Amino acid sequence: MSGKLEGKVAVVTGAGQGIGRGVALRFAREGAGVGVLEIVKENCERTVADIRAAGGRAIALPYSVAVAAQVDEAMSLVERELGPIDIVTNIAGIYGKHMPITQLSLEEWKRVLDVNITGTFLCAKRALRGMIDRRWGRVINTASGHALSGRATFAPYASSKTAVIGFTKALALEVGRSNVTVNCIMPGVTDTPMPRENDPSGSRLPILAEQNPMGRIGTPEDLASAMAFLASDEAGYITGQTIAVNGGIRELP
Ligand SMILES: NC(=O)c1ccc[n+]([C@@H]2O[C@H](COP(=O)([O-])OP(=O)(O)OC[C@H]3O[C@@H](n4cnc5c(N)ncnc54)[C@H](O)[C@@H]3O)[C@@H](O)[C@H]2O)c1
Repeated sequence: MSGKLEGKVAVVTGAGQGIGRGVALRFAREGAGVGVLEIVKENCERTVADIRAAGGRAIALPYSVAVAAQVDEAMSLVERELGPIDIVTNIAGIYGKHMPITQLSLEEWKRVLDVNITGTFLCAKRALRGMIDRRWGRVINTASGHALSGRATFAPYASSKTAVIGFTKALALEVGRSNVTVNCIMPGVTDTPMPRENDPSGSRLPILAEQNPMGRIGTPEDLASAMAFLASDEAGYITGQTIAVNGGIRELP
């Protein structure tokens, strides 16, 4: 196997399904050893098995990104079994319950922020140590169009994704001189279990595809291509950016 991530070690969070799974499979095809960090054990192991069956290197990390001790254990395992971590892609995310603010519990608010922004912070923080020491690293975060345009009854999700963009900018300024880049991908609606759970009748996705300038919704592979580029040596002078991979939908702040 040879590719643009040959010899690199990457941790991909939320890699049991959807975008994260697509990114983990692609990174492995590009030559990276992949730590598959995914809270659903069965899906975590399925992604690892598929990477290995295709001749790639991967280990299962059935942990939560929202728990500091679990993140530490996962990253230590990767360092022991695959080597120093070069790339961390923070993709694990939850949408949360459809709920007006007046009915939203503090627990639900915290649950969404814990995964989407605190999880991003914890994984970046733990992986950065080695990147700074070795003067090479890539942190790639995942926002959403809701960060810019919002969506009624999904305030925790929108807030967490706006926070991911701010975190990306601040961290990029902090670690640039260590030759570590920090960027954020902003997917549009992408064909994964997440938007399907929020569209039980199946009527919304065809409408969104029709409204898209390119006439379709995104695929995990669309996102994986952008992330593989950002993770590679070729993107070494791109940092602090939020890049929309959404078929050209205009999202305004
Ligand atoms: N699919 C879309 O339309 C879309 C659009 C914009 C942004 N995004 C973002 O892209 C990312 C991936 O979305 P997706 O559509 O693939 O979602 P998905 O629900 O299909 O997959 C998310 C994965 O993250 C895992 N996960 C959840 N909480 C976790 C935790 N605490 N620790 C570890 N893993 C955890 C889930 O088990 C799941 O496998 C998310 O951050 C999402 O907000 C998705």
